[in-house]
Amino acid sequence: MDFPRPIWLYSFLLILTLPNLILCHDRCNNQAGSNSCTSQHSESCNANKNDLTTDEMFKRGHMKPFGSHRPPDFIVEELPYMISPQDFYMNYVAKHKPVVFKGAVKYWPAYTKWTDEYLNATYGNETFNMETRDDDKWNIPPSMKLHEFLSQYTLANRYLVDEVLPDMRKDVILPLCLRCEEMSSYFFVSYFWMSTGGTSSSIHIDTDENLLCIIHGHKAVLMVSPVYSTFLYSDESRVLGVSDIDPKAVDLEKYPDVMKIRYHSAMVEEGDIVYIPQMWWHQVISRQVLRQQAVALWWKSKPTFKEHGRQASLLQLEGLHDKGKYSFGNILAQYESWVQNVSDTAPMLECKDQQKFMSDYQFETDREENAPQTLGDGGHLEEEFGLKFDEVGGTNKRPCNFDYNNEKNPCQHPSCLEDDTDTRCIRYTLDYCMHYDDRGCVVTLPHMMNKLASAEYNEIQQMHTEFQAN
Ligand SMILES: *[C@@H]1O[C@H](CO)[C@@H](O)[C@H](O)[C@H]1NC(C)=O
Ligand SMILES: *[C@@H]1O[C@H](CO)[C@@H](O)[C@H](O)[C@H]1NC(C)=O
Ligand SMILES: *[C@@H]1O[C@H](CO)[C@@H](O)[C@H](O)[C@H]1NC(C)=O
Repeated sequence: MDFPRPIWLYSFLLILTLPNLILCHDRCNNQAGSNSCTSQHSESCNANKNDLTTDEMFKRGHMKPFGSHRPPDFIVEELPYMISPQDFYMNYVAKHKPVVFKGAVKYWPAYTKWTDEYLNATYGNETFNMETRDDDKWNIPPSMKLHEFLSQYTLANRYLVDEVLPDMRKDVILPLCLRCEEMSSYFFVSYFWMSTGGTSSSIHIDTDENLLCIIHGHKAVLMVSPVYSTFLYSDESRVLGVSDIDPKAVDLEKYPDVMKIRYHSAMVEEGDIVYIPQMWWHQVISRQVLRQQAVALWWKSKPTFKEHGRQASLLQLEGLHDKGKYSFGNILAQYESWVQNVSDTAPMLECKDQQKFMSDYQFETDREENAPQTLGDGGHLEEEFGLKFDEVGGTNKRPCNFDYNNEKNPCQHPSCLEDDTDTRCIRYTLDYCMHYDDRGCVVTLPHMMNKLASAEYNEIQQMHTEFQAN
């Protein structure tokens, strides 16, 4: 045997430990909150009840779409809100835990702007790269101009996938969960996808973290932890990182190990974002024929984290081609196991850009004597009405919040001009506000009435009003 000893030992250990690791991975993830499985390697993690038999899985899955062999063991968590970069990093990225953010894309200008007509009129002459609908890596169609693509994409067997043009980026809002210099400064690439659906990707990995943002259409995303890499025959594929298994009809006679795979399933609808962890196998399917648009944002995980916590040397990439010595699948599994091991010690992101002091902001009370005054709804009087300050109401008095053009507004009323805490002024304002749908009432009236004693308020209600409707 001419294997260098450490490698031999390494492979041997992996063979021994991998099955345990896989079962633990599943049970532990599946039992969030339960205390029966405290460590990835505890006994209780290995118990695997109510499982399907191999025969049952074969019947369900042979020559059927990938994932038919068993129901998903994990439905990807869906959050109805966006989260901070710190929370995203600590709870999902550092743990390689997929997640869906519902509706997060609906605020993007792209969501409403990117019609075929708009894209044609704006970027029609730009050239984009194409792929085939069934992700045939061997027969990639030539790139073409967008207007050509748009005139035929409903018919032809191709879809568009290329970098988001610099000009198009102004229509994309960087999701909050990435807005941290420790994340976004590592941006690597962004992809724009467009098709009419009926597409199915291969089962593949990307070496970057990925937020797949669905602008139009919807997709099913199946994800498989790298601990199952060898069950996807990762070492036998023609291109490393792209499984040769046909995900539309999985041949379980040829690839029986697929039945050992547990997978995560996410249904990602229009406006949603799904996080696909780095190195995770995934398949993206848009079954229905429906206009599909997506943007994928890829970034590199924080390198300091990758160096954090362990002495163990990571991937030994030099030997990848020699499958006898080095198994790509085992290296991926080892990598994922390492990520899971150190995830608890991942350092908190600082996101210094977000750590502004109160003193970095301006407050209304900071206004200087001659600073421009604002109306109640925040607009600048000068900008909105072209008024100079001392033209307001013909006096030098601060303008009030009520409709300036309404001569009945309380600001013009004598009792209010004298003292706007005067009970006559309050009564006048009450009547005015019963009569006019004036935003000033919403802004000012509560202030005027604040801290009135109820006796005083009763008095105001009883008193003679100086307000006359017409
Ligand atoms: C594309 O090029 C053609 C011919 O040069 C021109 O007429 C058309 O306006 C261009 N379209 C866009 C969107 O720039
Ligand atoms: C795109 O715009 C060109 C004019 O620039 C027009 O001739 C063509 O029909 C348009 N294509 C589509 C698919 O709308
Ligand atoms: C993960 O932790 C377990 C238990 O501490 C250890 O046996 C295993 O070797 C670690 N795996 C890696 C890849 O560091």
